[in-house]
Parts: sequence; C-alpha cells; structure tokens
Amino acid sequence: MSIIVNGRAVAPPTDPRVSLLDLLREHEGLTGTKKGCNQGACGACTVLVDGERILSCLALAVQYDGCSVTTVEGLGTPGDLHPLQAAFVEHDGFQCGYCTPGQLCSAMAMVEELRRGVPSHVTGDLSATDIPFTADELRERMSGNLCRCGAYNGMVDAIMETFAQKEPAE
Ligand code: FES
Ligand code: FES
Repeated sequence: MSIIVNGRAVAPPTDPRVSLLDLLREHEGLTGTKKGCNQGACGACTVLVDGERILSCLALAVQYDGCSVTTVEGLGTPGDLHPLQAAFVEHDGFQCGYCTPGQLCSAMAMVEELRRGVPSHVTGDLSATDIPFTADELRERMSGNLCRCGAYNGMVDAIMETFAQKEPAE
C-alpha cells in the first residue's frame, strides 16, 4: 500500500508519529503546504484527502495509507494555474501568501460541500438541497482558514468568480 500524493505513490512513514503535514513537507519536499500553528487552529496546513479537506497537522500519515492526497502543488503549476489560483492573483486574494495554499485547498472542498447541500451555521433552511452560493456562506465555510494579512475580501471575490459564475462585489 502507499499514499497517493498528487498522483504519485508515496510510502507511508515507518514512524507512526509522523504527521501527514511533516510527511508532505519534510519527507516529500512538498513545502507548498504550510505549517502555521501545528495544532489545528489556523488552517494553513489544509490538504484534500479523497476530495475532503483535512488539517494535515492533526493527521497521522499512516492513517492515510491507500488514500489520495492533493496538495496545492497538485491543483496547478506556475505555468498552468488552476482557475481558482488565477482568480486569487487577479483579485489580490493574498498578500504574504502564507495561508494561500490552505485557503485554496479548503475552497476546493468547501465548494463541493456546498453543492452537496451540506448546511453551515448560516444556512437558513437545513433541509434545503440547493443552498444559495452567497458571500455569507463562503465566509462562514472558510472561517477555519485564518489570514493574518486580512486578504479575505479578495478571496471571497476569487472564490465567487471561479465557482458561482457571479461577478464579484464592487
Ligand atoms: S498548521 Fe494545521 S491548523 Fe495550523
Ligand atoms: S496572505 Fe498572508 S496570511 Fe494570508
């Protein structure tokens, strides 16, 4: 068995104490995923596991044997950006950029959660299957990803433009 990271098979660590974050950064050299708090509070380490977002600092790598992990390096490349990455650039969705990989991965999974009808704290009708794609929903659903630079407005505009096919707010 192995962990599939961005389409490439990676051997799980022999040391069961290694976090998924450290496997990615220290063992595989995938430093796009950032270590902020290392205790589940900032979202900088967010990656996708089988399409779901998780905090890789709180995950033991050996738990993910057989799973498919996507990091920011797996979303797009500098010469071939994912549309969401391009929109972050266009809308100034980052300043220092430290939180950006986690924001991007989180947004990818968050949009699928919204499309599946998973309610959030601000969803008015819990039985609704067609949840409106509003800025309030995006802000609530992305609230686990902190940005110390405060580039939130640009992120919301970028996510909105990419996934809701709506013009960003003025
Ligand atoms: S580094 Fe994982 S949540 Fe902050
Ligand atoms: S862009 Fe600097 S922490 Fe978010």
